Amino acid sequence: MQQILEPRLFQKKVWGYFTQHGRTLPWRKTSNPYRILVSEIMLQQTQVDRVIPKYRAWCKRFPTIRALADAPRSEVLTMWQGLGYNRRALALHAAAKIIAQKKFPQEYESLLALPGIGPYTACAILAFAFNQPVVLIETNIRSVFIHYFFANQKNVHDRDILPIIEKTLDRRRPREWYWALMDYGAALKKTAGNASRRSAHYTKQSRFAGSDRQLRGQIVRYVGSQAASITNLKQHLTEARVAATDSRLKKILNDLTSEGFLARRGKKITLAL
Ligand code: ADE
Repeated sequence: MQQILEPRLFQKKVWGYFTQHGRTLPWRKTSNPYRILVSEIMLQQTQVDRVIPKYRAWCKRFPTIRALADAPRSEVLTMWQGLGYNRRALALHAAAKIIAQKKFPQEYESLLALPGIGPYTACAILAFAFNQPVVLIETNIRSVFIHYFFANQKNVHDRDILPIIEKTLDRRRPREWYWALMDYGAALKKTAGNASRRSAHYTKQSRFAGSDRQLRGQIVRYVGSQAASITNLKQHLTEARVAATDSRLKKILNDLTSEGFLARRGKKITLAL
């Protein structure tokens, strides 16, 4: 491991970048845990630029956790369109129904017990909503630490990064500190190449265009908009210039059906709502 820069020097560098170039993002203007939860779920696997309009529209339609809890499932899916992975929307809806009955949980274990909330999301809520000095890691943060502290190493494990995140954490301002690390990491990826490639946990994110996730979204949208059959669905996809072989389409339709998004009766395909 490269010698650990003095934590203070490292902090100075990261804060320096953030002061000059930090992003103002809509979910950074709030510490409302519900809104932070929404943003973090949306930001998993979806680019910031694509999330911004979706997040704004979502907060307008479902301004509170109660509003989301009370909304029909069909509307939740409609508002999620374009973000992919509908399962995440359904888990968020389920979590809202649970949380709306009580106070928003503020402990790691109780957050983790909610549908759709894993270790990262639980910690992100603790940091961004409750300003707690937790140890948080995601792709951009990982890049910063690999870049600085593991200069020429390959196959870097998170277990070796986490103690350094903890040691360098600015405990006076955890919320802003993690914003700063995320922004610095995002910028590093553009200038210094993606240091996360040297992570032992690196998996290349599949591009959205042409992905199964995109095709799933298109199918759900189409089926939700009109009476659908395999024949007119295929025609629609052809017109939309989406390349989908019969076997791929069949597999995705089967997946969507077994996951409970679509229902099939004879030739008819409908939303299973
Ligand atoms: N700010 C707070 N959470 C974020 C995230 N996951 N990605 C980018 N900026 C953020």
